[in-house]
Amino acid sequence: MSDRVWIFDTTLRDGEQSPGYSMNLDEKLKMAEMLDQMGVDIIEAGFPAASRGDFEAVNKVAQQAKNAIIAGLCRALPKDIDAVIEAIKPARRRRIHSFLSTSPLHMKYKLQVEPERVLEMVKESVSYARQHCEDVEWSAEDATRSDHDFLCRAVEIAIKAGATTINIPDTVGYSVPEEYGRIISMLRNRVPNIDLAVLSTHCHNDLGLAVANSLAGIAAGARQIECTINGIGERAGNASMEEVVMSFRTRQDLLPFETAIKSELIMPASKLLSQITGFSVQPNKAIVGANAFAHESGIHQDGMLKNAATYEIMTPESVGRDRSDLVLGKHSGRNAFRTRLVALGLALSDDDLNAAFERFKDFADRKKKVSDDDLILIATSKDGLPEEHIRFVSLGVKSGSFGPQEAELELEIDGKRTKAKAGGKGPVDACFKAMRVLVPHDNAVLSNYELKALTSGSDAKGEVNIRLAELGHTYNGVGVDADVIVASCRAYIDALNRLLAGRHAVPTKKAN
Ligand code: KIV
Ligand code: ZN
Repeated sequence: MSDRVWIFDTTLRDGEQSPGYSMNLDEKLKMAEMLDQMGVDIIEAGFPAASRGDFEAVNKVAQQAKNAIIAGLCRALPKDIDAVIEAIKPARRRRIHSFLSTSPLHMKYKLQVEPERVLEMVKESVSYARQHCEDVEWSAEDATRSDHDFLCRAVEIAIKAGATTINIPDTVGYSVPEEYGRIISMLRNRVPNIDLAVLSTHCHNDLGLAVANSLAGIAAGARQIECTINGIGERAGNASMEEVVMSFRTRQDLLPFETAIKSELIMPASKLLSQITGFSVQPNKAIVGANAFAHESGIHQDGMLKNAATYEIMTPESVGRDRSDLVLGKHSGRNAFRTRLVALGLALSDDDLNAAFERFKDFADRKKKVSDDDLILIATSKDGLPEEHIRFVSLGVKSGSFGPQEAELELEIDGKRTKAKAGGKGPVDACFKAMRVLVPHDNAVLSNYELKALTSGSDAKGEVNIRLAELGHTYNGVGVDADVIVASCRAYIDALNRLLAGRHAVPTKKAN
């Protein structure tokens, strides 16, 4: 049996089906191009009978694809199958993917069809699809809650009717690895014509077991995995492609399987999807999360600096990430602190390093993450921490759809309170204009502004990250507040304090 595992990506179908993840045509084409480039074997581009938009997207992806097989999903209905046939026509390589439920629960309540009729429908739909396409996949929806004898009969009929791939979905994410592996083995042992088709896994993540179940399915003889970028998909999602691919790469001793995925494109694909959908992955998400290669504790950082293999089982470069992030924070040790300073071009004597390390610990106690800008100031300012020349005092804004938007900002600059009013294109712009009136910094430009919610819910705190660029230097600032406009001001002030510390002089508003 070959060790090659086919990667069937359903980001654009099962993934796109989940709430909030819908993508427009351009976005789907961009994502499909990335999937094709990264070596996905089969791209499930959509469900053509679902809507005009879905049809068009599958059709355009089919026109664009260079290497991947393009699949479209359909129910066991001639009109659905016809829509797929038409939509995938322009593709160089095509697949029809038809599905029908086989569990007692689905047959009785969802389909309201007798089991014997379901078997007839499998035969009719697969034969019809096969008359139009060489490559036909049939899925037994809710397979893992189906009666085994019935599932074996349905699979045998589908293969006899021409199915070349048989997919065994754990539709509701109910199975566990041992059981899922046993189902695959059971089908291989009991279905007489099983060798004529490739067995496929399609596992949902309701119990957080989608990847584990998929790997168990492969170990038991399946050779296709249906998965998505970042693990998106119905409810808790599908098996995540990056986790599956990197499990094979990392554990060849136990999982001696190969895929065609160019793993260096994993991170770019993850980022592209996040950028398109507006959903970032959680920081601790395996492989692609912000913390997946970050090390903060002193002991871990020390180990990493001596040999990265101490705390990393794969290199960040292998998944398209720049480098491991040694996040400096209050748990960091002296070795990591010194190494980062050297990387920033600051080689301190032992005495200076000791003093700077004390200042760093003090600073890190008050701030969650210590940035490179903070470090430069900590290391170079012998008197202590970066000075806060400017402090936020109060803010009033007029915003809303009636316009014009205005801000009245009060700051304390070197101990003196001062106020200014300004208008702008929106309340944030108005605030930043008021900031420029109070603290002139004409040569500095705002080169980045990012706002994100720290938690979910309408009462979430907003975190704003800002970057000011002046004369070839950049100064980052971060601000957090329940009011996102106040968070924006705090971030701007933070960046401005760094900029002013860099200049060592505080320009103030000229007297009128
Ligand atoms: O989860 C599922 O059962 C599916 C099928 C349509 C393949 O997505
Ligand atoms: Zn699914």
